[in-house]
Amino acid sequence: MSALFSSYTLKSVTLRNRIAVSPMCQYMAEGDGLVNDWHRVHYEGLARGGAGLVVVEATGVSPEGRITPGDLGLWTDAQGAALRPIVAAIKRWGAVPGIQIGHAGRKASANRPWEGDDHIPEDDPRAWQPIAPSALAFGGGLPRVPRAMTEADIARVQADFVAAATRARDAGFEWLVLHFAHGYLAQSFWSDHSNQRADGYGGSAEARGRFLRETLAAVRAVWPQDKPLTARFGVLEFDGRDEAQLAESIALLGALKAGGLDFIDVSIGFSTPQATIPWGAHFLADIAARVRRETGLPGATSWYISGAEEAEQLIAEDRLDLVMLGRPLLADPHWPYAAARTLGLEEAAWTLPAPYAHWLARYRTA
Ligand SMILES: Cc1cc2nc3c(=O)[nH]c(=O)nc-3n(C[C@H](O)[C@H](O)[C@H](O)COP(=O)(O)O)c2cc1C
Repeated sequence: MSALFSSYTLKSVTLRNRIAVSPMCQYMAEGDGLVNDWHRVHYEGLARGGAGLVVVEATGVSPEGRITPGDLGLWTDAQGAALRPIVAAIKRWGAVPGIQIGHAGRKASANRPWEGDDHIPEDDPRAWQPIAPSALAFGGGLPRVPRAMTEADIARVQADFVAAATRARDAGFEWLVLHFAHGYLAQSFWSDHSNQRADGYGGSAEARGRFLRETLAAVRAVWPQDKPLTARFGVLEFDGRDEAQLAESIALLGALKAGGLDFIDVSIGFSTPQATIPWGAHFLADIAARVRRETGLPGATSWYISGAEEAEQLIAEDRLDLVMLGRPLLADPHWPYAAARTLGLEEAAWTLPAPYAHWLARYRTA
């Protein structure tokens, strides 16, 4: 028996195993936020590879909320409708379709990673004005000073989250991930590196958490009660204040849970270039386990979980409910099949669709 290959049920949704495709921007839209053949092949391949949950990449709730001009969007009905064949393909191959929605805040208006990963120069016609809690630049390759949001901007962005969640629901997604991580807009309200507001959205932890609590509550009102409403959230900045930050993050997550959050994907704040991150094999797993324990929320994490036995152990020891895999699944969408074989599962081939599985099972010893 394998813990990694045991099914997982949250609300009305059951995943066939504990392997989740972590959301990964492809930056392959053509400036219109619409999926194209690249996304169809990419997501269908990941579902066919055997993961239990496939989370579609960070998708902008508004044009200004995109990281790059290549991001997907959900600010028009046409974008929502274009995602339907991807939802159908993910389901056809036995995975649950999820999507992450977000707003990039002060990290918006950037070049694709392989084209610089930096802010597009202001005089370039492809650039736009980023917005954020305060007029503070991230720094490094993202030097552009954002416009500080008014309360009307905040209400508009929250309405954009609601509209995007509604379109995700109508497109058939069953698992929604709010992007509250990685120094993008929601995380930047939470972090004092980026939020120095003097109104009800800044200052105390209570006030810095308000944008996240309100956004969650607004989305909860339109997202089906029986479907998981989840968030990816950076619990730590690794800026030397770990214990105090973790305690504040856990308190915020408790409030989000009370407001209807069903699951937490524990990640990193990425709100300052001055962080010292202790990269290493599954280095966030114990932090995620603590967050799960202290909040009572089911949860997962990503970051350097790459081996089958390692993933198996993290689930078997009840440190995580799911493993979120990013780069290992880019390298090999059939990672679940390879993992099942490594773990010695007789039924390994059956992580694959029948046209592949039949032959692999038959000739397994050849
Ligand atoms: C190409 C690429 C795109 C990514 N895009 C997103 C994204 O859209 N949303 C997000 O929350 N994280 C994003 N990430 C982070 C991954 O979801 C994941 O957390 C990270 O890669 C660590 O997991 P890994 O070590 O298994 O790759 C991205 C990572 C990669 C490599």
